[in-house]
Parts: sequence; C-alpha cells; structure tokens
Amino acid sequence: MPNIILIGYMGCGKSTLGKKLAKKLSYDFIDSDMEIEKITNQTVNEIFNSKGEIFFRELESAFLLSLKKKNNYILSAGGGLPCFFDNIEKLKKLGTVLYLKLSPFELSSRLNHSKKIRPLLGDKNEEEIYYFTKEKLNERKEFYEKAHYILKGKQHNVQCIMELLGIEISNV
Ligand code: S3P
Repeated sequence: MPNIILIGYMGCGKSTLGKKLAKKLSYDFIDSDMEIEKITNQTVNEIFNSKGEIFFRELESAFLLSLKKKNNYILSAGGGLPCFFDNIEKLKKLGTVLYLKLSPFELSSRLNHSKKIRPLLGDKNEEEIYYFTKEKLNERKEFYEKAHYILKGKQHNVQCIMELLGIEISNV
C-alpha cells in the first residue's frame, strides 16, 4: 500500500484523521510540524518569530527530502507546506495525496476553538480569522487542488478513505 499524505488548511483535521488512519493500517504517523520541532528543538511559533516564515518553509522542504527513505506512513503536512516551492509535486511522488477540503466558515470556527498556537493567526478574532482564511484559501487552492483526491467534509473519515483507496478491511 502507498504512503498516505493529508494536506489542507490549518484546522481541517489532518492530524486527528491521520492518527486514526495510521492506527487502522498499522502505519507510522508523521506530522511535519512535530518533526521540524524535534529537529530544531524549537516550536513552530518560535521558528517563525526568530527566523521568519521563509526559513520555516525551507525547513519544511528539507524535511520532505528526508521522507524519501521511509515507507508505510501517514503524513500530516503543515497547512502551507504544499504551497511553497515544488513541494506539492514532491508530495505526489512520495504517496497518495488527499486534500481535506472545508469551507472558510467551517475552518475559521474550528480554528477559533483550537488550542494549537498558529503564528499566522496571531491574536486574530473569529471574524478576522474568517477573512484571512478566505483569502489564504484563494491563494492556496491551486496547490491543494493538485492532490490526487479532494475530499469533502463528510468524506473525512477512515472508512471513506479506505474505500476510496480500495483498501480492504480484511487486509488490515
Ligand atoms: C501553517 C500551518 C501550520 C504550521 C504553521 C504554518 C500554514 O500547520 O505548519 O503554523 O501556513 O498554514 P497546521 O496546518 O498543522 O496547523
């Protein structure tokens, strides 16, 4: 079975679904933000604040190269990762890429309730997050939509993904 790569905007549920899939398939779960935090010994927020966004994007790209040697994993890719350099093409070579699509409204209300610190959101309120998300999604759409599959909200579950990828329950 191929590696499975989940992409999409912040708050779309990549990590939660990724962990469930990994458990079901007995695959490793990899989260790009967590890996970068381990390598640098800094939080994503600290990296953004001390070295800036471009430096973080370079770290993401370098991290992608390290995945070439791995197999049998579910990757949750940071929201911006597919949208810089030729990362989306690299992701598509590493495995089957699924875009977890949600509307700006759904995303902003989830983000408003999320505890994860996200440097791009700073101290924006819900309304500001909504407009920011709308604008960013417009910019990022062309990258996200290059995924092998685009999944609507109701398809964001293990069962749906297994059916989509033709993974038999009996094989798992
Ligand atoms: C970012 C998304 C974050 C993290 C960083 C930047 C983005 O990951 O990589 O804060 O540009 O959308 P999540 O999508 O896991 O929140």
